[in-house]
Amino acid sequence: MKPIIAPSILAADFANLQKEVEMLNQSEADWIHVDIMDGAFVPNISFGIPVTEAIHRYAQKPLDVHLMIERPEKYLEAFKKAGAEIISVHYEACQHLHRTLQQIKELGCKTGVAINPHTPVGLLSDVINEIDLVCVMSVNPGFGGQKFIENTYHKVRELRDIIQAKGAQTLIEIDGGVSTANAGKLMASGADVLVAGSFVFNAENPLQTIAGLKQTTDEKNV
Ligand code: DX5
Ligand code: ZN
Repeated sequence: MKPIIAPSILAADFANLQKEVEMLNQSEADWIHVDIMDGAFVPNISFGIPVTEAIHRYAQKPLDVHLMIERPEKYLEAFKKAGAEIISVHYEACQHLHRTLQQIKELGCKTGVAINPHTPVGLLSDVINEIDLVCVMSVNPGFGGQKFIENTYHKVRELRDIIQAKGAQTLIEIDGGVSTANAGKLMASGADVLVAGSFVFNAENPLQTIAGLKQTTDEKNV
């Protein structure tokens, strides 16, 4: 199975956002990953609702919105209105994760849960059937361009087993430090969706780089 590719717009040239979104429209990318940071849950601030809305105005692909914010339940409707198709909240930011997932569903969005590198995947076991997408953070959230954490492979395998055991349809997304150097091994471990920010936007040819990621095969099948 080929991976779903979700380039992270965080690494794009914000002064030319329309051009960058149009490039993604032309590319083999499947989704556009939109990183929202509040300066409280993570030690950085990215952008918010109006910029998401502006991306959506030009995007011809689903917006995969990753909320790295405290109290995400307060902003779900605003992000839905701004064009989010998938909304991921952080496990660590939700007091009542099950309730928040129902709220996302009621808005008509796909449900996502992101987990930090230190959070065991087993904690999602009792809500896995409510989750369309688990975003496994392979760096500490807050910044693009960080080094991939190797323990991620192990987490992906464990999560794959939980999904299978529970008969869930959940997709596994990997976010942080993804490149063609680790994409094959991630797919072989059970990943479905690859997010890539700096690897795509810092490349000389982002279109070709996205196409290269899309061609990733499970290393075990090579
Ligand atoms: C990190 C963000 C990531 C980031 C990925 O907090 O959630 O989506 O943009 O960027 P790279 O691919 O550069 O690690
Ligand atoms: Zn992200």
